[in-house]
Amino acid sequence: MDKINLGQCILAPMAGITGYPFRKIALKCGADFSFTEMISAAGFLHNDRGTLELLETGSGIDKTGIQLFGSTGDILAQAAKKAADKGFKVIDVNMGCPVKKVVKTGAGSAILKDIKGFSLIVESVRSALKDSVFTIKIRSGFDENSVNFLEVGRIAELSGVDAVFFHPRTRSLMFGGAADHSLTKKLKEEIAIPVYASGDIFTVDDAVTIKDYTGVDGIMFARGAIGKPWVFGDYLNANRTNLDINQKIDIIAELMEEISLFYGRERGHNLIRPHLYNFLKGFKGSKGLRCMVNNAKTEKEILEILNILRTTNNEYTRLD
Ligand SMILES: Cc1cc2nc3c(=O)[nH]c(=O)nc-3n(C[C@H](O)[C@H](O)[C@H](O)COP(=O)(O)O)c2cc1C
Repeated sequence: MDKINLGQCILAPMAGITGYPFRKIALKCGADFSFTEMISAAGFLHNDRGTLELLETGSGIDKTGIQLFGSTGDILAQAAKKAADKGFKVIDVNMGCPVKKVVKTGAGSAILKDIKGFSLIVESVRSALKDSVFTIKIRSGFDENSVNFLEVGRIAELSGVDAVFFHPRTRSLMFGGAADHSLTKKLKEEIAIPVYASGDIFTVDDAVTIKDYTGVDGIMFARGAIGKPWVFGDYLNANRTNLDINQKIDIIAELMEEISLFYGRERGHNLIRPHLYNFLKGFKGSKGLRCMVNNAKTEKEILEILNILRTTNNEYTRLD
């Protein structure tokens, strides 16, 4: 099988964040690979309208994996096959989502609760896919009493899964506490297929430290990339891209334009907010700036706020 190389730093799937515009900008800023947000396998099979929007890749299909969620091997295998037929070369199954609405259907992290069910899912999806790369994204277990990532990893390897994305928290921790990357190190030592670290990788330093400590094949930026897509280029170039504030504002403005082109101005206005909040976080006086963004009614007003930061020697110096 001619395997696609996922590279070293990947944009993690994030619902509501990693739509086409953000993936496009992250790839442009240096991400080696990106993922759609999780897409319902059943919805995809029924050609749900909302699903089609999530599948958009532009010309970037070779650098975009589709992430599916579902609870049965049968549905996930059919959806995986359909995704491969549509040209996706990398198909990931979500086994980490902690959200109640998803877990109660038996999907996301609920898959980790039942090792037999897990095995059936990976076997079904693997046999439905011929040349595509098949990956899974997991947590360390469902709860503190069922931490089973090593067993899950071993079965995945034996069943022909090509790589594992690992977020070392249990489902019950949700996003609480710290991601325990000593577990990532253990998983990497246990299995021979590529392991990618996810969890609390907010900065280039975090990424370098976790990569060196765990020996993983690559890392995923998730929250750390929101409003800071240049983090990929910074990581790959060992922090040498050194974009100045004006160049960063240009990237945020480009992202804002892509978002409103793709979703329309009204929806776009809300979808850009998480990026703006995160971007502004690192500035002195950011509270006031975020408040101004909150009150802004148009894109033009937001651009005016960003332009305040362009002027040098103002009171909004960067803190980090
Ligand atoms: C807003 C948001 C949405 C997410 N949606 C998904 C998703 O659709 N699929 C998935 O596998 N993980 C999802 N995640 C989890 C991330 O991919 C990642 O594993 C997690 O945030 C830990 O990385 P971080 O601490 O560096 O953010 C989401 C996380 C956030 C914050």
